[in-house]
Amino acid sequence: MPFEIIDGSKMAAEIRKEIKAEVEDMKARTGKVPGLTTILVGTRPESQTYVRNKKRACKDVGIASFSYDLPEDISQKKLLKIIKESNRNPDVHGILVQLPLPAHIDEAAVQSAISVEKDVDGIHPMNIGNLVMRGRKPLFIPCTPKACLEILDRLKVKIEGRRAVVVGRSNIVGIPVAMLLLHRNATLTLCHSYTQYLPAKTIDGDILIAAAGKPGLIRGDWIKHGAVVIDVGINSVEDPTSEKGYRLVGDVVFEEAQYRASAMTPVPVGVGPMTIAMLLRNTMDSANRFLSGKK
Ligand code: GUN
Repeated sequence: MPFEIIDGSKMAAEIRKEIKAEVEDMKARTGKVPGLTTILVGTRPESQTYVRNKKRACKDVGIASFSYDLPEDISQKKLLKIIKESNRNPDVHGILVQLPLPAHIDEAAVQSAISVEKDVDGIHPMNIGNLVMRGRKPLFIPCTPKACLEILDRLKVKIEGRRAVVVGRSNIVGIPVAMLLLHRNATLTLCHSYTQYLPAKTIDGDILIAAAGKPGLIRGDWIKHGAVVIDVGINSVEDPTSEKGYRLVGDVVFEEAQYRASAMTPVPVGVGPMTIAMLLRNTMDSANRFLSGKK
């Protein structure tokens, strides 16, 4: 059976090109460009890398980025104050607080403090609520779930009526991607750490989304022949043979899955670049909404 490695980098480059042209057009018409605030608390290396990549992508397409690198011990009050300033700043159209946050900060309070109209991460309860309910439209869809659907659509994968299995139920990936697939009329199975006989569930998936955050959880023989597999996991595992001492692997054992799936995203260059492209898309859409006065 033919097997395709899904080229997330190429898809993301196409989207960045489209957005770059839109930013240039906006600048020519209005003299303004979209703006994104990124907020990083602490010094987790992975988070630093993610935020650096997001800022670089903004620069690439002409989106202005306003960044805050805050100390690990910042108080919740100070963090909320910064968010509120960005909520009021007319040059900012999107606000992203990199997760996870230190334990002393109430993540839910932070997410709720971001203006619904600038919540380009799609994690405000109002946006998530509207995403979950049928017939409603959130202002923003979280970037990774949006990337998964964009990949399936660009590959022209049929969703309606087919079996979609999602492994993982995080607020930012598992739950929203499951709801998006359900709203597109997939027959959905949502699995998590309490699911019994997980391989008996994953084997049914015409579409399998792995978002458990567990390296190598899903083995080749857990995958239906011909399935399309989207691996959202980016897990760092020790690797003494690599220069950095670690390497990034997905939730699916790629070397085994390639003999079962018809197409699969590699890690880290599959969903990762597309997630960032969706952040740019959300920021662009937000700026358009603000500048047209339709909020
Ligand atoms: N940390 C890991 N993934 C994400 C994400 O999509 N958004 C934010 N804000 N933090 C993350």
